[in-house]
Amino acid sequence: MRFLLISDTHIGNPRPGYHHQEPLSEPGPLFHALGKFVRENKVEFICHAGDIIDDGSREQMRLAAKLFGSLPCPTYAVTGNHDLMFPESAEWFPEELPALFPEGTTDYFLIREGIRFDFLTANWGHPPAFWDGECLDSNFQQKQLDILNSGPQDLPRIMITHSPVCGVPTDQTGFPEIYHAPPEQFEKTAFKLAKQKNISLILGGHNHLNLCVTKDGISAVTVFCVPGNAV
Ligand SMILES: [Fe+2]
Repeated sequence: MRFLLISDTHIGNPRPGYHHQEPLSEPGPLFHALGKFVRENKVEFICHAGDIIDDGSREQMRLAAKLFGSLPCPTYAVTGNHDLMFPESAEWFPEELPALFPEGTTDYFLIREGIRFDFLTANWGHPPAFWDGECLDSNFQQKQLDILNSGPQDLPRIMITHSPVCGVPTDQTGFPEIYHAPPEQFEKTAFKLAKQKNISLILGGHNHLNLCVTKDGISAVTVFCVPGNAV
């Protein structure tokens, strides 16, 4: 099985580039190149770790549907903070992007070739599945824990959630301090759940950097991806 992790495409973002990421005014060429990569590397599906769009609107969802629909393989996605900027955004995603949310909800699991993929929204503040543009206090709701506890429990598992489950170490950034560490409680919860549920890999986004950290046999990975801009 070969799948590709992408994240933080921030489709529709009108603002200038995030500090380590150049903006693209038009995402078409990027998706053309992505399609070429998928074909050449025989990628079977793409996992998108969230911040698919920038403002949580139906308009940007429709733009994203066109772009992801142009790719030669399916994309399965989790939502990020920028995807959830309207109280109704989580309901709109399966309506506007049903191919990216094949179970009709933003929290779900899929099984591919004997591996279970758990796609879980990381929430910020309250109410759940809504980001007010400020609070980045990542947490899981009972709804996400119910997904983890449903279905087959004996498969090797990969969790995908937008908020990274640990900060990027200084030796992976060259920065003087750990970058974009989540709240300590979220990190503890994510690794504890992973241990309990036989999850050996946690994929994420949000930091717009390549992160690879292994703790207690569980690896956390995030990716740097254009054309996104804001975290
Ligand atoms: Fe984000």
